[in-house]
Amino acid sequence: MLITLFNAVLIVLITWLAYLYFDLKEKATPAKERYSQLVRGVASVVDRLEGYDKEHSREIAELSERIGVACGLKDEQLQSLNAAAMLHDLGELLLPRDLVKSSKKLEGDELELLRTHTLLGELHLKAQIEELDEVPSLIRWHHERWDGLGYPDNLKGEEIPLAARIIALADAISAMNAHRGYRKRQYAGDADVIAEVKRLSGMQFDPQLVKTWLGIGCPLSGVKK
Ligand SMILES: [Fe+2]
Ligand SMILES: [Fe+2]
Repeated sequence: MLITLFNAVLIVLITWLAYLYFDLKEKATPAKERYSQLVRGVASVVDRLEGYDKEHSREIAELSERIGVACGLKDEQLQSLNAAAMLHDLGELLLPRDLVKSSKKLEGDELELLRTHTLLGELHLKAQIEELDEVPSLIRWHHERWDGLGYPDNLKGEEIPLAARIIALADAISAMNAHRGYRKRQYAGDADVIAEVKRLSGMQFDPQLVKTWLGIGCPLSGVKK
């Protein structure tokens, strides 16, 4: 019953996004800006349903964008990066709530089921909005790792698109820095987060991206200090 309800919510959200996206494309309004606002609106609904205490998706999108700008990404690439970062965990809405919000460390079948959120997000977005070019693929690969130990495809190094590598880094930094309902911030201070990111450079994260992040002052969120 719960899954059915969340399925319904997701379908309404995506249909709404698709409708407005195509509607905007036909008009001569600054569609890019309004499109970003729409994606942000959908993402904030996802965050609410996920029970995040702050705007998780927006924070990751803004941090991704800062890193993307420092990497020299062009406007169009930044737009896809932003949309994919905003919607990266959309697939979690299709999974049972008690699984997604579980306070215990998941293992075995439960962990595998949770990991399908990458595929669910990609498939549902692709099915609804064909025009979203690379955004569904970036969502699919936001948990891949530089060393090939990520999921769902065990892509390695530069096989993973740059934007997906950026989202993976921003998502992990945000998770290390976050207070979640069931647990406190994982690391005691900013210095610990920075040390952990450096430690995982070349394993979980693209080492060049870590250098870029260090080069722009190690922001832990998209908000400039
Ligand atoms: Fe995720
Ligand atoms: Fe996330």
